[in-house]
Amino acid sequence: MADYYVVTGGAGFIGSNYVDHLLTQGRQVTIFDNLSRRGADRNLAWLRQSHGADSFNLVVGDLRDPDSIKDATSDADVIVHLAAQVAVTTSVLDPRTDFEINALGTLNLLEAARASDRHPFIIYSSTNKVYGEMEDHPVVERAKRYEYAKLPHGVPETQQLDFHSPYGCSKGAAEQYVHDYARIYDIPSVVMRQSCIYGQRQFGVEDQGWLAWFVIAAVLEHPITIFGDGKQVRDMLDVRDLVRAYDSAVENRAAVAGQVFNIGGGPKHTLSIWLECGPMLEQLLGRKIPVSWMEPRPGDQKVYISDIRKAKRELAWTPQVPINDGVEHLVNWVRANHNLFA
Ligand SMILES: NC(=O)c1ccc[n+]([C@@H]2O[C@H](COP(=O)([O-])OP(=O)(O)OC[C@H]3O[C@@H](n4cnc5c(N)ncnc54)[C@H](O)[C@@H]3O)[C@@H](O)[C@H]2O)c1
Repeated sequence: MADYYVVTGGAGFIGSNYVDHLLTQGRQVTIFDNLSRRGADRNLAWLRQSHGADSFNLVVGDLRDPDSIKDATSDADVIVHLAAQVAVTTSVLDPRTDFEINALGTLNLLEAARASDRHPFIIYSSTNKVYGEMEDHPVVERAKRYEYAKLPHGVPETQQLDFHSPYGCSKGAAEQYVHDYARIYDIPSVVMRQSCIYGQRQFGVEDQGWLAWFVIAAVLEHPITIFGDGKQVRDMLDVRDLVRAYDSAVENRAAVAGQVFNIGGGPKHTLSIWLECGPMLEQLLGRKIPVSWMEPRPGDQKVYISDIRKAKRELAWTPQVPINDGVEHLVNWVRANHNLFA
């Protein structure tokens, strides 16, 4: 029998892209989401329009409610756990809610999986934030970007964990629980430490989803503020590449269960947040984009680049979408969907 998928946070950015992909493959899918994120209703409408009104099952539920997540996942063969409080800034303002959703909510999900007789496989979307500021890796300043002095392949999974911010702590705690449930209760899972994911259906705001936010603000001519000198470097992964990594984990679940993977663009897909990104957007839009400048945000890494060699080896996966193409795709989506951002 074909796998039955439950995607928590399936109405969000990454979730709606993955559900779209699963439905295209004819999979049976339940979305579990409390629809709290701006744009969630519009992502559901897009999925219904693309695949039909009854193409997926929707449970409007909250991760903080153990019964709700248990009911929703009881028949699942694969659980892709994406639902989360996702903004570092929000976590600083309200660490309790952040903890309850990200850490306790994930424990609720793991307990649901433990109670299930279907032995579901879980993909957990963690974050590079679990590595903290990595002060042990010296950084070199170049004209338009920062670079690692000694990490040509980027940061490997063996980097010491150093949770920063309530968001870093809640996501880090959750991923350690997921990892340990694989060991202690034999609940098969993988942890994906994702870096900057970007693409269509991303309702980026100033606090979260920076590239989508810059594109939306630039297209709609909203003011843009750059925090820091704009040379901060991130590795960027188009969501269509992330979707293939999830597929590969499911296909290879017996071999990769219990593993942690860095999933990002890696050294070949990097961008400095304004000194390189700004000119790229200006070229795509055919005009200058005015910005204002502020002090760097506390804890903002000068560079983060994932070492993705383990994922290449064990998931036979590698990013395919060049940054220029991915950013152009995002610009075109925002331009064609002005009404979504009203
Ligand atoms: N986008 C990125 O660059 C990135 C990078 C690293 C990790 N991640 C992780 O990937 C996952 C998905 O991120 P995204 O960018 O798609 O975010 P998103 O905000 O677009 O999606 C999250 C979804 O979870 C839902 N949700 C929030 N709280 C909930 C709750 N208590 N119960 C049920 N549903 C709830 C929201 O309504 C939303 O639809 C998150 O776990 C995030 O931490 C994302």
